[in-house]
Amino acid sequence: MTEKDNNSVITSLLMSWYEKEGRDLPWRRTTDPYKIWISEIILQQTRVAQGRDYYFRFIERFPDIVSLATAEEDEVLKLWQGLGYYTRARNVHAAAKQVTHTFNGIFPSIYSDIISLKGVGEYTAAAIASIAFHEPHAVVDGNVYRVIARLFGIALSIHSSEGKKVIKEMAQSLLDIKDPGRYNQAVMDFGAIICTPVQPKCTLCVLQDYCIAFAGNQVGKLPVNDRKILIRNRYFYYFHILHNGNTYLQKRNGSDIWKNLFEFPLIETPESSDFAELERNEAFRKLFSGIPALSVNHRLAIKHQLTHQAIHTHFYQITIPDEVSYNTPEGILKIENEQLSEFPVSRLIHKYLEII
Ligand code: ADE
Ligand code: SF4
Repeated sequence: MTEKDNNSVITSLLMSWYEKEGRDLPWRRTTDPYKIWISEIILQQTRVAQGRDYYFRFIERFPDIVSLATAEEDEVLKLWQGLGYYTRARNVHAAAKQVTHTFNGIFPSIYSDIISLKGVGEYTAAAIASIAFHEPHAVVDGNVYRVIARLFGIALSIHSSEGKKVIKEMAQSLLDIKDPGRYNQAVMDFGAIICTPVQPKCTLCVLQDYCIAFAGNQVGKLPVNDRKILIRNRYFYYFHILHNGNTYLQKRNGSDIWKNLFEFPLIETPESSDFAELERNEAFRKLFSGIPALSVNHRLAIKHQLTHQAIHTHFYQITIPDEVSYNTPEGILKIENEQLSEFPVSRLIHKYLEII
């Protein structure tokens, strides 16, 4: 499946999940941007259950933008009492006045105007533009970040600008452009109900088959919520060489977590490499010097996720014809194929041996 197909399957599964399981919330029964705006501001600082009461009280007293714009600030603050973040209430009041003066009392209908309102940031502007006006803007809140980080195995910190950028791009590429507002609310509900911060309901999850974190047993580790941890990407290319009933191992020295374990001859490159690039590598030439035509079989690509690093690994099986003589390269140990299981190997190598 291409990435695009994969994404569109995820999108439609989310949409049909929402159809069946999405919450019936009061502000979902309106297309009035004013009410949607108020609900979104309230929901930024409280959970849905508590937010509902505030929403009703607020909308009852200020049913439209004019009533809010002409109110006394004290009364607005009073209604907000208990929600905290009074700056938001002041901003809401100021923005209502702004709509009266700048937009003739009509709530603006395009993203760039909406985001110009006081107290309205990217999240709120995208929510209003998509829900009230069907504009194709994906929202990213804590729920969306978590769902996407898990689905795609993105181990970038929620505090990093890179993480925010990558998640935002993913969110945008998953957006259902036929119904962006519905889609945005579907992901948020999905994060609030299924893919929850603790004990997510993976066993009930319609996206389980598509979830990288689930497949790699990383659900509890994502999203990364730590200012310190940086995941380092590494690129490993292992060569499982077969010749005359023998294979070849090397012992890992150095002081990393695999110290003293055995592995196949390895080339590590700073970026991902294709086979042609590997062939040009000095280490590759040393490994296969004097061997004419290699019979190469790409057996496996796996991403091995550790706490601080992601090991992108490829295994190549290389068969050297029996009639060709092969001198064991320096630092490499020649063993009989049957002996392989006697050597202690890393989990990564073990995975490969289980699969082939
Ligand atoms: N959280 C904030 N806004 C939301 C919305 N519109 N739907 C679901 N969860 C939300
Ligand atoms: Fe979230 Fe679990 Fe579903 Fe993955 S399988 S999307 S972690 S609920």
